[in-house]
This record gives sequence, C-alpha cells and structure tokens, in this order.
Amino acid sequence: MKDSSRRGFMGKAFGGVAAVGAVASLFAMKKSWDPLPSVKAAGFTTLDMSAYNENELVTEKWRGKPIFVLKYTADMIAKLDEKQKGRTIVVGSDHYMVNLGLCTHLGCIPSYDNAEKTFLCACHGGMYDFTGDVTKAPPPRGLDIPPFKIDGNALVLGEEGPEYKKMKETGVTL
Ligand code: FES
Repeated sequence: MKDSSRRGFMGKAFGGVAAVGAVASLFAMKKSWDPLPSVKAAGFTTLDMSAYNENELVTEKWRGKPIFVLKYTADMIAKLDEKQKGRTIVVGSDHYMVNLGLCTHLGCIPSYDNAEKTFLCACHGGMYDFTGDVTKAPPPRGLDIPPFKIDGNALVLGEEGPEYKKMKETGVTL
C-alpha cells in the first residue's frame, strides 16, 4: 500500500469511528433528557380514602415527600371553625387533613399527638392544630397542602382539582 492511500484509509476509518461515537453520544443524551417511565408514573399518587381510621395519622409518600393523612372524628368535625373548614378535604361524608408533613419553618417532620390532637415540631417548638394550621411560631404558616383531585372515594395527589384550586385562590395554601 502506498503511503498516500494508507493515509486515506486511516482517515476514513477514523472518521467512521468518530461518526459512530457521535451518534452513540447523541442517543445517550436523548435518553437522559427523556423522563423515565417510572418518574412519569410517580408524579401522581392515588390514595384510597376509605382505608384510613379516625384520628390515626398515616404518612404517605408523594414525589418523595411525606404526606400526612388524618381522618377526623365526628367530634373533630363538630369543632371546626371556618378557617379550619377551609383546610379540610371532604370525600363523600368523611373529612380529612392531607398536608405535606414538613414544618414550614425549616422543614423538620412534626409529630402528631392523637390525645391532644395537635402537631409538635420538635426542632424549634412550632405547633399546628389537627387541620395543619399553625398555632405556635416560629412556623410562618400552616402545613402546605399538596395538589389534589377528588376522584370518587380516592384522592389523586399531583392533580389540581377544583377544591385544591379554591384553596390556592383563597390563600389556604401556597
Ligand atoms: S423546623 Fe419546625 S419549628 Fe423549626
């Protein structure tokens, strides 16, 4: 093989390898842009609201965050004032608190005292009532309410139904 034709062959071979590499890396980039199917599905969490017991706090998970679900007793419902009613989610004839389980001060997870029906954040002593409204500083506001949609007996977290939109409009949640 003459020197010039060897150079031509080497050039083509190198060019071919580089082209394959470029296509492969474009494919890899595209794959990393596309959300994984599991991530798409994880955007929504459906809760069967008939599965909860009264005054028993259950911590669910939505998008990796803790979600407090608390079903009220008849006594709790009877004591609700207008502000607390505004934070309450009604599914059928049952009433619930469904809040992000992260203190609005610096993000600690408050604990629920079911005898007192209050939440205490041990980090700096912040307190919330059973609807998640703040009763003692330093938290600047009540627990946030995740986007939800009522669907029959279920609550779909991650979708914005009319009840959630109203809570946002009236400043009940951010
Ligand atoms: S993080 Fe809850 S009171 Fe500070």
